[in-house]
Amino acid sequence: MCGIVGCLGREDAQSVIVNGLKALEYRGYDSAGVAIHSGQKINRVRAEGKLINLQEKLTEQSLPGQLGIGHTRWATHGAPSEKNAHPHTVGGVSLVHNGIIENYAELRENLIAQGAQLNSDTDSELIAHLIHHEISKNKLDFIEALKVVTPRLRGAYALLVMSEDRPGEMLATTNGPPLVVGFSEDSFILASDLLAIVPYTKNIAYVTEYETVHFQENKYQFYDKNFTSFIKEPQQINWTDDLVEKAGYSHFMLKEIFEQPRSMAKSLEPHINVENQSIEIKSLEPHSEFLQNLEQVYIVACGTSYYSGLVGEYLFEKISKVSCKVDIASEFRYREPKLNPNSLVILISQSGETADTLAALRLAKKSGVKTMSICNVEHSSLDREADMQLYMNAGVEIGVASTKAFICSLSLLNLVSGFLAKKKGVLNIVDENHLVASLMATPSHMESVLTCDKFFAEAAEHLKKYKGFLYMGRGVNFPIALEGALKLKELAYMHAEGYPAGEMKHGPLALIDEEMAVVMIAPKDDLYEKTISNLETAKARGGQIISVGAVNDNKLKELSLNFLPLPEVDWNINPFLSVIPVQLLSFHVANALGHDVDQPRNLAKSVTVE
Ligand code: M6R
Repeated sequence: MCGIVGCLGREDAQSVIVNGLKALEYRGYDSAGVAIHSGQKINRVRAEGKLINLQEKLTEQSLPGQLGIGHTRWATHGAPSEKNAHPHTVGGVSLVHNGIIENYAELRENLIAQGAQLNSDTDSELIAHLIHHEISKNKLDFIEALKVVTPRLRGAYALLVMSEDRPGEMLATTNGPPLVVGFSEDSFILASDLLAIVPYTKNIAYVTEYETVHFQENKYQFYDKNFTSFIKEPQQINWTDDLVEKAGYSHFMLKEIFEQPRSMAKSLEPHINVENQSIEIKSLEPHSEFLQNLEQVYIVACGTSYYSGLVGEYLFEKISKVSCKVDIASEFRYREPKLNPNSLVILISQSGETADTLAALRLAKKSGVKTMSICNVEHSSLDREADMQLYMNAGVEIGVASTKAFICSLSLLNLVSGFLAKKKGVLNIVDENHLVASLMATPSHMESVLTCDKFFAEAAEHLKKYKGFLYMGRGVNFPIALEGALKLKELAYMHAEGYPAGEMKHGPLALIDEEMAVVMIAPKDDLYEKTISNLETAKARGGQIISVGAVNDNKLKELSLNFLPLPEVDWNINPFLSVIPVQLLSFHVANALGHDVDQPRNLAKSVTVE
């Protein structure tokens, strides 16, 4: 959730850390701080609010030194304020923490009883106290102190720790939250995400669950869960840092919405044979026998990824003829699910680090059920731990609101349901060719739908005045209604609901009056007539209808205040197109309201805490 960065061995440690925090600001942005070891002492600067506030402070008071740590915060314990900003320093120990300590209350109480002076309301400061205590009172070595403290922490942590009496040393450890080391010449850069490291080096190693790294001058040593040393070789990655530029767009989100056709094409590319128009998912071939006999699919995810899973439910049941159940990860993990042993659990996550989704994966594995991850971030925790892996290939997604990852999840779910259908013998070659051809044609249809950007840019001033938005759809467009409502809440901070259109008469109809916008997703599919009846009911109550439907649908156009045309496509392709207007609506309304679209309040891109 928070972003952490460390640097050891570079004269420009402060700027490496601040640049890293800039790249990680999407992970948290309510306060930030840096601590640098000057060789004699640790100096620290922290600021409430966005990173720019810290940068301004640092122009007046720069911190010399070659060893340092930095943090950009998403508050869990304690308000977003300077005193709660990291790094936390206790005695000579200074640390940054990403995660959440669940036995915070108990630890805090014990420390207070022992006479500790607490300077913040955070869980993270308590860790600094515990380490300091072990070093100063129990005379433990730096790494020994970490070894006895970490088992006392319940919850999640990735930590970077420095000590004033050890000017060339740093400890890095994690029990799950992401942590990567970059190796360049004689220096090390550490961060929660590759984005902070790739401008300096492509030579990296992941620090994985319960691993610790001890850096001393230009040497480093990895330790496993039992603090037994082992060797981990760095690997070379082929990333380019220009992926994180806005490329002329005003916002990352807008750029990412416009990148969707290309992202979708890239998500399909590795898995289709263009010549034969067939689905060929090579990484799943070794699991053919298992897939052929599969009886049940579960999809587990959070937020937007969960909504792509809801579309997946229709795909698996209609295309693969396999029963599919979709769950919100934070519910799945605690409801003691009775999993059919002959089933597959698919975990969808852009970041691959979402704590609840990761816990769901581990639960499924513990129950002996096979797992498949659909992630955008290669080598993320989900990607590493799942039995089968598929990549979204969406490219880096910076905007907190997920857009292109959603499209790519849909495209992989289409492919997996087609692949499964083939293995089960329920997809003939003609239908397979048709499925592949229609997926391949989708990016260009998406290009045409993107032209509705102009409408929303102009209409936003008017749309922002509605008291709320009700999004409705049926079938595969019901999850799109949910996604539209989530996006508007997340970005415009307006009341919005997503509903299956047929459910409206069971309650939400009471919300409708002239101040309520009704976004109706009504493509010409099997349920079209029913959707139109639902629309007429809403209109009769004064609802202001914004509709999304087939380009030549004059009836829908007549019934609507505003009509956004979509090309006529198959039912399974519709969500790729109908999601674009709802994304653009949220973007432009939020922008017209003056909100920070890329970094909406209270949210973070990667939710590595419960
Ligand atoms: O990285 P993940 O896909 O696991 O993230 C899941 C949700 O946190 C995420 O989709 C969230 O709902 C987005 N901010 C929505 O735009």
